[in-house]
Amino acid sequence: MRIELPKNVERFGTIRLGDLQRVFELDSGPGNGELPPPSHAIQRIPYRQLAKIFKEMAIVVPIRGERLKLIEGVLCGIPHPCLIIIVSNSEISPIDRFHMEQDALRDFCTFVEKDALIAHQKDPVLAEAFRKAGYRNILDKDNSIRDGKAEGMIIGMMLALLAGKGYVGFVDADNYFPGAVEEYIREYAAGFALSRSRYTMVRIAWHSKPKVVESRLLFRKWGRASANTNALLNKLISHYVGFETEIIKTGNAGEHALSMELATMMDYSAGYSIEPYHFINLLEKFGGIYENPRPEVMDDKVDVYQIESRNPHLHEAGDASHVDQMQYLAMQVIYHSPVCPVDLKKEILQEARERRYISKRGKTLARPQYFPPLSSIDPKAFLGDISPTPYGRLIGEGIGQAGR
Ligand code: GDD
Ligand code: MG
Repeated sequence: MRIELPKNVERFGTIRLGDLQRVFELDSGPGNGELPPPSHAIQRIPYRQLAKIFKEMAIVVPIRGERLKLIEGVLCGIPHPCLIIIVSNSEISPIDRFHMEQDALRDFCTFVEKDALIAHQKDPVLAEAFRKAGYRNILDKDNSIRDGKAEGMIIGMMLALLAGKGYVGFVDADNYFPGAVEEYIREYAAGFALSRSRYTMVRIAWHSKPKVVESRLLFRKWGRASANTNALLNKLISHYVGFETEIIKTGNAGEHALSMELATMMDYSAGYSIEPYHFINLLEKFGGIYENPRPEVMDDKVDVYQIESRNPHLHEAGDASHVDQMQYLAMQVIYHSPVCPVDLKKEILQEARERRYISKRGKTLARPQYFPPLSSIDPKAFLGDISPTPYGRLIGEGIGQAGR
């Protein structure tokens, strides 16, 4: 991959937040394993270098009731060396969609001759393992794992950790272009190859999102929820750096990846609020304004890369109320953060009233559910509770090795 280095970097405590990076070549050749000197503004990352990272990477695909044809396309876009982890919250009754997903994954694994993991979010074995580990926020009143994309992602991260992976990336299951999926994963690996830190996050900004407008294709740049979330996050950063900034372009990036060191250190928030909360939690933990960053992170810094993908992004369209829900969730995590300045809080409250997310006289926004770092879980004990090895055997109806 040939990719530019971020032209502008906002430094915030221990965080290095890079501006959008353009990709010039998706494949820049096999290379001899050496990277060009870090001083070059455009970096060539040879395929061999990316492939090394793929081997260390798990790709988590959260699924809730998506069409099987779409899922098959997504699987096909995931580079062979990556470990696939599907976390499904699809219905089991009256129609067992999860069984159909398992079946499709098993076939896929047979054809491509590799292993994959698949788990169901409501698997009682998983819920019990989280309960025993003291990770109770992920459970509802009935001691079963809560619904939500973030909750599925947390299960996926835990499985990636248990499988010994160094990186974990996410791709949605409702993507129409396998080529886009492949590109995102290449870009995750490129970000990790560029990073000088063990604590790295890579976020994808879609180049465009095709939409039919008056019977012609319009390639929109910003999604409806993203524009609002980015603006609020940028206001927050501007408050602290004292200069207006537009550095954040990926406030809602569903497509993102984390080094495992960073993934296990962060707090998370529920459902679709997880992606905007990444930024908030990074600022809280490593921004030097609220908590004192850990010494090991002080030395290494936290690298955040935002990479602009080349493929258009086409996925199942959510309706207006879905977009509203996403926007409201992003506003909640910003509003409730101890790093949110008073003026911004007022502005968010006003906006929530105007958009009718809360009543006209509402005094606050709903508070989302938060989850502590996964480093609080003892991986050995957790693994012992779900399986002798991550690939060991089928557990209940849930985790299992599909294919070989
Ligand atoms: N395991 C699991 N559990 N998966 C879920 C759940 C759940 O409760 N809810 C949704 N998913 C899966 C969906 O099946 C899909 O594969 C993926 O999570 C994203 O959900 P969508 O409902 O398709 O989200 P979206 O398209 O509106 O928004 C996406 O893009 C946004 C902007 O980049 C998501 O990735 C958002 O998180 C993101 O902010
Ligand atoms: Mg979608």
